[in-house]
Parts: sequence; structure tokens; C-alpha cells
Amino acid sequence: MKNTATKENIKRETFRVPEKMLKPVIASPYVDRAKVIDRFNSLLANEFLLFTKTLNYHWNVTGPRFHSIHEFLDTQYHDMLKLVDDLAERVRQIGGNPIGTLNEMKKGSTLLERPGKYPETSTMLADLMSDHESIQIQIRSLLTQIEKEQNDPGSEDFLINLLKQHENMAWMLKSQLN
Ligand SMILES: [Fe+2]
Repeated sequence: MKNTATKENIKRETFRVPEKMLKPVIASPYVDRAKVIDRFNSLLANEFLLFTKTLNYHWNVTGPRFHSIHEFLDTQYHDMLKLVDDLAERVRQIGGNPIGTLNEMKKGSTLLERPGKYPETSTMLADLMSDHESIQIQIRSLLTQIEKEQNDPGSEDFLINLLKQHENMAWMLKSQLN
């Protein structure tokens, strides 16, 4: 008998995943899953950009409030990283692939970066606050679309929670500007 246990066959056998496990874990039928996944990925691109901007300002802040703002932005960029990670994993849960390269993040984002510019502290904080507000608008819009067109209460709940985190971060930034 011919030996079929070639390297390739063994590999395929070992890594075979049952068909049903490849399906998204969200049971509800989507009207247009690809559209929702695209919008989640656009949001992910902006979240990633804001994470990067917060990290940049954490590194480059100067002035009399250096220590407190440096520490404050340390907390905020860690919070942003957790939020980016959770959002990317939500994309997997609804059956998509989160974008995961700098190229895609840059292409998909709509928030502005200012390479080579190191504004004074209040301008940095106001810039971050404004981006948090832009992301809130984006989340609200996605939330409305899911409520109207899809049947995915889990994603609605996820986005509401995400929105509240941005509201909280924007409030913390604003409180230091007044
Ligand atoms: Fe640091």
C-alpha cells in the first residue's frame, strides 16, 4: 500500500478545523456582513491612529506640567491600546479579519496627523480631545446602522461601551484644559 502520510498530509490532518468552527460566533444573520466589517475596520484605523498620537504626545510633551501630563497620557495610551485590541477581536467575532498593518491603518484612517510638529501642552490635549469626539461621531453612526439594518445586539452593546470609554477620555482631557 502506498504511504500517503506525506509531510503535507500530516500537516493538513493536524490543522484541520471543523467547518462549523470557521463560521462567525454571532448567530444572527447579517444583512450585509462585509459592509459592517468594513466600517468596523475604518473605526479600528482611527482608534489605532489616536493610540499612536497619544503615545507620540506622551513622548514629546514639554513644559511646567510635564510630569503630570506625561503620566496622564501614559494611562490614556494604555487604555487606547486595550480598546484597539478589543475592537480588533470584535471584528473576528463578527466573522471578519481586522486590519493589522501600518499601511492599512494609515489608508483607512480619517483623523489628521501632524508629522514633525510638537505643539504646546494645551494644543496637544485639545487635539486629542477633538479626535475622541470625531471617533464618538463615527461610533454613533455605526451604531445607528447596526440598529437599523442588522440584528446584532452584541455589537450594539460593544459599541455603546466603546462610546462611553471615549466620552470618559474626552472628559479627562477637557478637564485639564479649563
Ligand atoms: Fe513611557
